[in-house]
Amino acid sequence: MNFPKTRPRRLRKNQHIRDIVRQTCLNVNDFMYPIFVTYENQKKPILSMPGIFQLPLEEAKKEAKEVYSLGIKSIILFGIPSKKDELGSCAYDENGIIVKAIREIKDYLPDLVVAADACFCEYTSHGHCGIIDKNGYLLNDETLELLKKEACVYAKAGADIIAPSGMIDGMVSAIRNALDENNFKDTIIMAYSAKYASNFYGPFREAAGSTPAFGDRKSYQMDYANANEALKEIELDIEEGADIIMIKPALSYLDIIKMAKDHYPFMPLAGYSVSGEYSFIKAASQLGWVDEQKIVDEVLTSIKRAGCDIIITYFAKDWVKNNSF
Ligand code: PBG
Repeated sequence: MNFPKTRPRRLRKNQHIRDIVRQTCLNVNDFMYPIFVTYENQKKPILSMPGIFQLPLEEAKKEAKEVYSLGIKSIILFGIPSKKDELGSCAYDENGIIVKAIREIKDYLPDLVVAADACFCEYTSHGHCGIIDKNGYLLNDETLELLKKEACVYAKAGADIIAPSGMIDGMVSAIRNALDENNFKDTIIMAYSAKYASNFYGPFREAAGSTPAFGDRKSYQMDYANANEALKEIELDIEEGADIIMIKPALSYLDIIKMAKDHYPFMPLAGYSVSGEYSFIKAASQLGWVDEQKIVDEVLTSIKRAGCDIIITYFAKDWVKNNSF
């Protein structure tokens, strides 16, 4: 009898053997946890995202503390403002909720790495990611002016990372210049470089109250059919001075993540596992159709295996709680 000489199953024989040959191991340093801060004084559950809440500032501070106590080193903040207007002015109002949240969380937990999402969709009355003209078209260069202001206000409040998410052309260089001119030379830019016009953001828009009042985001976010264009966006962001690049969403875009890591291995790469990815798993687990803990580990591992150094996920706390060694 001709025995197989190579038996890959030898390395799968028991858990310890599997552990020592395991290629991709998640750990607590991989995660960034999103927090929604509201101006209201009541904690409000986000129905499509069980376990996730809009948090008043005091609660958000407690949440940040819990996250940090678990060993997670970074959070990304989103604000739900008291008022919305055409220019999204609450986004850069020094007394607005998001600026206050950055300031107070950094005062409270100086070592926690705080990223601030820099966009306008939560703050504009029309729900688009910047200034629009009378036809609803997003005005690129006018929006850049607001982004510069927003970035400097967040940096001044203490944000370690500015994360522009609007897919506005030239956003990274505009922000880099503004930060440098105002002496925020060490503030990091994490660019949402390849952000797709995705249907997976639905639950976030409930969470952040940022659904566009009309139209969609397809004139600025990328067409999900395009892979190579992601390389162009990433390359521009690197040239413009991004410190970290990001692909968003993650799970349906693992090919893009892999491509980004292969082309730009010298860049730290983040993947945003977005609200819809969270809601899918939560819904199916609540129905008893999948094992939540196991599927979360598999999904997050796949994002790291594809090439991400940082995983932004609403499951970060759960994963760490379920995997303390
Ligand atoms: C703001 C922004 C969005 C998300 C992160 N930043 C929404 C959007 O582009 O509509 C989505 C995050 C998620 O779905 O979890 N532009």
